[in-house]
Amino acid sequence: MPTVLVQAKSPNENEQKFEVEQGQIIFDELERQGLVLPHGCLAGSCGSCRIEILEGAEKLSPLGAVEADTIDSIKKTYCETDRAELVINKNIRLSCRAKVLGDIKISVLK
Ligand code: FES
Repeated sequence: MPTVLVQAKSPNENEQKFEVEQGQIIFDELERQGLVLPHGCLAGSCGSCRIEILEGAEKLSPLGAVEADTIDSIKKTYCETDRAELVINKNIRLSCRAKVLGDIKISVLK
């Protein structure tokens, strides 16, 4: 089974590790195991479930058109503010769309 490591939010917290079913959506698998990530529509259009892929980006399902459009919008929005460094050269995905195909490490993007 693939693993999803969720980076700690602060130095006082521990990284969380989840074993997930291959081919399943990140959000669904973590929710099933008790970790509810930030979310909104759960349909790929609001961007509330954005995450950064820290390791294993190639081990996720390919970007679909809806997810790609939403991520483009997120990046534009961040770049129009003083938060551009949070998305420039970062591998951003949507936890409600991306499916796990192998071991990954993620961080929740604020
Ligand atoms: S929850 Fe809206 S895009 Fe994922």
